[in-house]
Amino acid sequence: MSTTKGFDPRFMQELKQKNDIVEVIQSYVALDKKGGTHWACCPFHHERTPSFAVNQAEQFYHCFGCGVSGDVIRFVREIESTDFMGAVRILAARAKLEVPESNFDTEKAAQMKKKRDTMAAIMLDSARFYLSNLYSGEPAAEIHLQYIRDRKLSPTTVKKFGLGASLDFFGLPDYLAGKGYTKADLIDSGALTESKNGRFIDSQGGRLIFPIINAFDEVVAFGGRRLEKSDFAKYKNTKETLLFNKSKTLYNVNLLKKLKRSQAIKDVIIVEGYMDTISLYQAGFTNVVASMGTSLTKDQARALKRYTDNVFISYDGDFAGQKADLRGLEILKDEHLNIRVVPMPDGLDPDDVVKQGAAAYQKCLDEAMPLIDYKIHSVERKYDLKKSEDKRNFVAEALKIVGEAESESLKEELLKKLRDKTGITYHALERDLHNASKGKAETPIVKPKENIAETAAGGDKQSKAIRFILAAKLFSAPYAKGYDLSDVALQNDIHKIIAEYVVARERASERIRPSELFEILDEDCAELNEILDLNYGDKLSGEVAERFFSDSVKALEKEGIEKQIERLNAEYKAETDEEKRKQIAEKLRECILKRNRIQNKK
Ligand code: UTP
Ligand code: MN
Repeated sequence: MSTTKGFDPRFMQELKQKNDIVEVIQSYVALDKKGGTHWACCPFHHERTPSFAVNQAEQFYHCFGCGVSGDVIRFVREIESTDFMGAVRILAARAKLEVPESNFDTEKAAQMKKKRDTMAAIMLDSARFYLSNLYSGEPAAEIHLQYIRDRKLSPTTVKKFGLGASLDFFGLPDYLAGKGYTKADLIDSGALTESKNGRFIDSQGGRLIFPIINAFDEVVAFGGRRLEKSDFAKYKNTKETLLFNKSKTLYNVNLLKKLKRSQAIKDVIIVEGYMDTISLYQAGFTNVVASMGTSLTKDQARALKRYTDNVFISYDGDFAGQKADLRGLEILKDEHLNIRVVPMPDGLDPDDVVKQGAAAYQKCLDEAMPLIDYKIHSVERKYDLKKSEDKRNFVAEALKIVGEAESESLKEELLKKLRDKTGITYHALERDLHNASKGKAETPIVKPKENIAETAAGGDKQSKAIRFILAAKLFSAPYAKGYDLSDVALQNDIHKIIAEYVVARERASERIRPSELFEILDEDCAELNEILDLNYGDKLSGEVAERFFSDSVKALEKEGIEKQIERLNAEYKAETDEEKRKQIAEKLRECILKRNRIQNKK
């Protein structure tokens, strides 16, 4: 059932047995035992009160703050920034075990891994080549050096970020040709491109090179800046490859990770560009990453969450005008990040501001404000409040934004600020706000909490019920014992896998170990994390939990049967054969009886 990535399962078992998760984690962070659980401040995100829990009996960890979880191998992978093999090696050495030959389950997985490693090697070779070009003394390198000087980057900074130079289109292909890579790998890595006449050329020909390095210190792509006036795009990134997915990548995450190892990170500044990142870093704002373009993605937000909960958005001064980007920032809220937006003078970017000195940028940081205040602020900048027409337009726009506020107290606070800005009375603003919102559809009335499911995070009622049932089974809640998951129709793949796992273990009369799921499910599985979260505190025990379990089972059963009834009804209508119709009607009757029984069961 579980994949052991090519290793003999007996070896994996012994490896885990000899590396107790508590002992291993204790060698990295101090654990504090309370009840049956060991607690620590999470080593994967910044926090002051411990929410990182290590479950010795089940041999896994879970952070209730940032949602990461895993077994001992996962932990070592993360904390040592290594891959599965690396973690196995570390743990084997620790337990004085010999690492056996591994053969991958599927040849495909092995090939993928090999391909990925080859591509990483090509990118690293290319980065080294670009680096050596920069200080080669070649005349062609002079414009690159001049550019670096013009942008006031120190040699230390250049080295830190591994900046390099592509001097022409053929240097890199020639250099890589001597390294024994296949043509396909060279093209697939994105480093080279095949030209129309079949020649291989440097994808970044002539540009200044910004290596993009991931959290595991691998060069995954390049950003290349054009140095001369031309119609080509100012920056060109390596195409998307096995290694590089732009929407999941944060520029400078490698140095951020190092920073986190050396000190607690209070907050992180997100900028748009390579140069913004580097200039801020050089000026001492080392807690900076770039989203490489404007809109931050959900994946990038998730990645950030590993480092901090507090984010400064420091985009270009003109981004206020781009409403889409402000809206895009809402996703940060969904990830429960505290966002503050850094106001920037019109037309300037962080790089421009910090060039005036660190203090100038610090001043902007000090003026950072919550998203909703920032929205009002950016609307205000469009108008001259001394003109009455402008003022009227400003108030109308600002009230729309106030209407989006989540709470009445926040609305009140914003209205007061608006009053102070405009001199209009609070009373009048409040009435206008009220009238403006009248036109809109009534927001649905939130029903009082019916059960625990309502408090579980994310998703509709049905998936909350399923999650709860799965958690109860996984953690062997006594009330869940007799419940058989094998007939439950599940839609979500993760749910299916978990149910299959539980059923297989039960059939074999073997213990259910939630930590085994980390071997089956891939990497960071948010859905699994949600389910594991339910094991927190006493959510799974006690009368309330027991009742919620049976309610959930009932709800699922009912849904299943209703779907069946619907299906049979449709079949009945479509059927012309009298005999068959009768059979369907009989089945329908049974289903309806069953549904009534479920409904009456209290
Ligand atoms: P900007 O246009 O703000 O550039 O794009 P910048 O970083 O201030 O550039 P300099 O200061 O003129 O050198 C912000 C970021 O958007 C991405 C890059 O990651 C860039 O750093 N971008 C921009 C591209 O990918 N392609 C482009 O053509 C332009
Ligand atoms: Mn710039």
